[in-house]
Amino acid sequence: SRNEFKQMFEAHALASNFYNHLLLNTVEGEEALQYLEKRGFTRDSIEKYEIGWSLDNSSALADLLKRKGFDLKDMERAGLCIMKDDGTGFFDRFRGRIMFPLQDDNGAVIAFSGRTLSDSKQEAKYLNSPETPIFEKSRILYNFHNARLNVRKTGKVILFEGFMDTISANRADILNSVAVMGTSLSDTHLLKLKRIAKEVIICCDGDNAGWEAAKRFAVMAIKKGMDVQIALLPEKMDPDDYISEYGADAFRNKIIGNPHPYMSFIMAYAKRSKNLSNQNDVLQFIHEVLEELTERTSPVERDMYIRMISDETGISKDAINQQFLKMI
Ligand code: UTP
Ligand code: MN
Ligand code: MN
Ligand code: MN
Ligand code: MN
Repeated sequence: SRNEFKQMFEAHALASNFYNHLLLNTVEGEEALQYLEKRGFTRDSIEKYEIGWSLDNSSALADLLKRKGFDLKDMERAGLCIMKDDGTGFFDRFRGRIMFPLQDDNGAVIAFSGRTLSDSKQEAKYLNSPETPIFEKSRILYNFHNARLNVRKTGKVILFEGFMDTISANRADILNSVAVMGTSLSDTHLLKLKRIAKEVIICCDGDNAGWEAAKRFAVMAIKKGMDVQIALLPEKMDPDDYISEYGADAFRNKIIGNPHPYMSFIMAYAKRSKNLSNQNDVLQFIHEVLEELTERTSPVERDMYIRMISDETGISKDAINQQFLKMI
């Protein structure tokens, strides 16, 4: 109902403010604040994204919500607290995590993602709010609300996997980025972007999951009729790692400023897992690239990539061309 929506919005605004206060102004938040500072977070970015801290082993938020008159059963549905097994009360859903508020297109907080302080692998690195009446994962892109104007102005949007990457990019004065928060991009996400930008630069992590996601995202965005390019990172690095290691200028100029057209990305992808001094790998490489090329209709593009395959492998253009003709 309308009232339920309104309560959920209000509770999230209150929670976000509370978590942010705990991070910035309490002893309990100090370790998290130090962690964020070590990762390059400035006071500005903490305030801009209203980043916070949720207390360990706590019902602090549930208690606050109750004091403010919220029904905690509703708050459980909102993803903010959980009823104790014995039914005697509620504890907080997010405990001992750095809190990243997720906002809707109007900038209202509608959910959270909470990060552990350590990378212990005992528990999920990020815990996210469940889907609720106000939070549909397939509609929400991190930073969409902040980036929208700039995306319109430049006609270009940069798409990352993680929200840490978007926050880092902002520190690097790249204001037109959003993050999908994982590897599932939806058609709804893309339509939202297409409405405000013709061009998308996909910049996923430099690991297997990231390369795979980049390809999937690119194919989806091309199908939607967007101009797609893919920015590549060194192995094992994500955009945030790269900015920390090499700085904002290098990221702007060498990575975002030097994106690959789809076929060029495909060649890099096919090459990534192969050793082109090995015969089998050469055959597999040629096959993978030609398979993608059969989907392309531009004769110029075909000629260009057949020449590039020939340059990469030392196989004659003629032979590659014959092979290609057999495949179409
Ligand atoms: P990554 O594992 O690449 O995280 O996941 P990250 O953004 O680099 O985070 P840091 O730098 O290690 O802190 C990319 C995105 O996938 C989602 C998050 O939204 C994250 O931003 N994710 C990842 C989860 O939802 N849960 C997880 O356990 C891990
Ligand atoms: Mn990743
Ligand atoms: Mn990452
Ligand atoms: Mn990262
Ligand atoms: Mn990491």
